[in-house]
Amino acid sequence: MMDWTDRHCRRFHRLLAPSALLYTEMVTTGAVLHGRADRFLAFAPEESPVALQLGGAEPDDLARAAALAAGYGYAEVNLNCGCPSPRVQKGCFGAALMAEPDRVAACVAAMRAATPLPVTVKCRIAIDDEDPEAFLDRFVDAVAEAGCGTFVVHARKAWLRGLSPKENRTVPPLDYDRVARLKARRPDLEIILNGGIVAPEAAAREAARFDGVMVGREAYQNPLSLPRFAATLEGRSAIEPDPFDLIERMAGYAEVEGRKGVPVKAVLRHLLGLANGRPGARAFRRDLAAAMAAPDAGGDVLRRAARHLDPLASDPRSCREAKAALP
Ligand SMILES: Cc1cc2nc3c(=O)[nH]c(=O)nc-3n(C[C@H](O)[C@H](O)[C@H](O)COP(=O)(O)O)c2cc1C
Repeated sequence: MMDWTDRHCRRFHRLLAPSALLYTEMVTTGAVLHGRADRFLAFAPEESPVALQLGGAEPDDLARAAALAAGYGYAEVNLNCGCPSPRVQKGCFGAALMAEPDRVAACVAAMRAATPLPVTVKCRIAIDDEDPEAFLDRFVDAVAEAGCGTFVVHARKAWLRGLSPKENRTVPPLDYDRVARLKARRPDLEIILNGGIVAPEAAAREAARFDGVMVGREAYQNPLSLPRFAATLEGRSAIEPDPFDLIERMAGYAEVEGRKGVPVKAVLRHLLGLANGRPGARAFRRDLAAAMAAPDAGGDVLRRAARHLDPLASDPRSCREAKAALP
């Protein structure tokens, strides 16, 4: 997710979900090929496995960008065919590409020829006035024919005219059943469901009829949901991670990055939601947001903000029980 799932965020999320596949932000071919590739592609082995999401529409450019991915250690290369942002549409990629299945097929074929990594596609169920039944089938069949075996489907339409990117993530209704019909028609393909999954139980229910689920906003805004998603999907009971352990590890990481010239805010902003739902969360968020913005802020701002959290609240129930037992 743009501006969210950068390498610092992934470093944090990896502590919470050891085996989930994490995705980069969308990286455009222009940035990779004409900018500093290292800046956009380099990541730490501790984040693995990571899928690189590319944004682009030119087969040659996408092939050249995909060719770099294995060398950087990525596990997968994903082509974005779901982003409705007007900036992306101007470059005629993202969701606008769904109107050109043959072009996407050519992109996928070129990428597959350039990298040994799996090449996957993320898309919507349709765009604008298109009928999702025929449109999605036509798109998926053409792209699968070019060798794409995995589709991550954000189960709503993208309205390229009239809705902002944010509205495009909430206004068009979710239609999981449309994606289920795709899976039924193409059982040979791996179909990953995305969109509106906020509860681990819902994730497990949907994972039973798809090949997996992708969780976006909930994982970012409420990071402690990640171990719950992971445990429920893996069929084990969730062990609530100790936020103080996470805080210590991320404060240490922020300090190491700080010595390389990375502002601590670039790391710690991803932890603002860490305490959501726990006693002291609001004060934690407020103090952290204010303190991390200071130019001389260090990893300690995180430890200080954590003083608002109750160590007994590792499991919110045990905190309530402990408080109730006080004289
Ligand atoms: C801030 C933000 C940035 C996003 N950036 C991307 C992106 O770069 N590539 C992409 O495929 N989807 C992007 N998305 C869409 C999400 O990946 C996801 O498809 C969408 O939010 C629906 O899933 P959710 O309901 O689990 O969040 C972004 C979403 C948000 C909120």
